[in-house]
Amino acid sequence: MNIYEAIRNDHDIQRDLLDKLVDTSGDTKTRSDLFKALRKELTLHANAEERHFYKPLIPTDMMQDYARHGIAEHHEIDELIEALENTEMDSSAWLKVAKNLKEKVEHHLEDEEHTFFQLSGKVFDSNQKKELAIKYNNYMNSHR
Ligand SMILES: [Fe+2]
Ligand SMILES: [Fe+2]
Repeated sequence: MNIYEAIRNDHDIQRDLLDKLVDTSGDTKTRSDLFKALRKELTLHANAEERHFYKPLIPTDMMQDYARHGIAEHHEIDELIEALENTEMDSSAWLKVAKNLKEKVEHHLEDEEHTFFQLSGKVFDSNQKKELAIKYNNYMNSHR
């Protein structure tokens, strides 16, 4: 497995949780459980990705701005998660914020998969791509 396959697998988990989350209503256990699962996935993924994907790209001139942009989006995602935590789950505002979060995350995943993966593919050699996948997966598995 290379780093791209490892990240894409987890992006698919996020997409699935987001689809399910915006299909929930009111102050229900389903909504709360899905939100907690999504929050954990997003947080762990951002941490693992910053350590084992973005960070090794920052010293590369060509990638620096992209890496910074990606990390800035992780912070925007964090802010939407916080906004959801601070909104009453049975208010109509909650679903609105959840939909914003879904849109923001989906846009970010697209950016990573379509732009970032292609460009960084020229920076890492195939051994590095495999080693990063091992480190990335170790981080995810030891924190899940
Ligand atoms: Fe990301
Ligand atoms: Fe990602």
